[in-house]
Amino acid sequence: MALYLIGLGLGDEKDITVKGLEIVRQCDEVFLEAYTSILPGIQLEKLEQFYQKKIQLADRELVEQGCESKFLHVVQQGKKVALLVVGDPFGATTHSDLVVRAKQLSIPVKIIHNASIMNAIGATGLQLYQFGYTVSIVFFEKNWRPDSCYDRIKMNRKNGLHTLCLLDIKVKEQSAENLVRNVKQYEPPRFMTVNQCISQLIELEQTRQENVYDPNKTMCIGCARLGNWENELIVAGTMNELLQVDFGTPLHSFIICAEQLHDLEKEFLHFSSVEYLKPPKVNTSSSSTQEEEEEEEEEFEVDAQDIKLVMSSVPGVSRDSAIAALRKHRGDIMLSIKLLKGQQ
Ligand SMILES: C[S@@+](CC[C@H](N)C(=O)[O-])C[C@H]1O[C@@H](n2cnc3c(N)ncnc32)[C@H](O)[C@@H]1O
Repeated sequence: MALYLIGLGLGDEKDITVKGLEIVRQCDEVFLEAYTSILPGIQLEKLEQFYQKKIQLADRELVEQGCESKFLHVVQQGKKVALLVVGDPFGATTHSDLVVRAKQLSIPVKIIHNASIMNAIGATGLQLYQFGYTVSIVFFEKNWRPDSCYDRIKMNRKNGLHTLCLLDIKVKEQSAENLVRNVKQYEPPRFMTVNQCISQLIELEQTRQENVYDPNKTMCIGCARLGNWENELIVAGTMNELLQVDFGTPLHSFIICAEQLHDLEKEFLHFSSVEYLKPPKVNTSSSSTQEEEEEEEEEFEVDAQDIKLVMSSVPGVSRDSAIAALRKHRGDIMLSIKLLKGQQ
């Protein structure tokens, strides 16, 4: 008997580890924690199909208040129970409480780790060792605009460290009115976007005026759907530049870089800068012939794997069109897919 906390990673149903999958298949009860993170675009049925196991959704109420009856007492009856967590089980502080409660009852807890947003942000090119406090950016309400994240960002910037901002997720939340009236009616799910996060951070800088960051100068990075190869997007620029970018579907994260970047970080960031990702400007001057423009486009060498990815994401698209789109966007898969989908 044991309680298993199993990380699912960030990409899709196939990111679970071999060990994790073996345990899921042996468990008597399997729950999916469904309020601190999601697998972008992956439905429960897809997980059940791949894991060959019935999965029950576990909302905050179940994990925090029903944990004794649903998990701990069931394990005490000699059963194996798994709680699946997107990312790593300890990528959210929430689950430490569950482990403490299990330990108090001498229930064995086994953890199967996986990739988390906390280490996947290394894909931006910033060195993980150079990050300071991670902050949560919560949705501002009319009369509640918390600014504790500003102090943490200030401390990180003072110490020459990057700040990872994790963005609010609201699932199965009651409106203030329904909460007061104890009406169990829930608001539609909301996932904070990079753009909403930036707007709130700009408002905080305007309110506090301590020059912690400059919306026109400080280097920042917006990330969407990390770990999901076909759809992930990483764009670096100032807050005002990134406000113009559509980061698409959830989940999003945001980074405020340290004032000084390591040379290698700078080199890496160049490839996700707004400037670099911008589609090449069309040269309208009469001195440039169409032949010259085509030659320029052909200079960019397209990766065979990228062509496959684009073709599999845009049904019916020809290989030539996929190559042309990738050349136009200098190998950026996400932008190429967007372009081709827009043309259909
Ligand atoms: C509580 S944290 C992450 C918990 C998860 N257990 C983990 O280890 O990654 C949830 C937040 O992380 C960020 N996040 C998680 N997965 C992400 C992804 N694939 N791409 C971008 N941001 C992500 C989002 O800001 C999201 O609101």
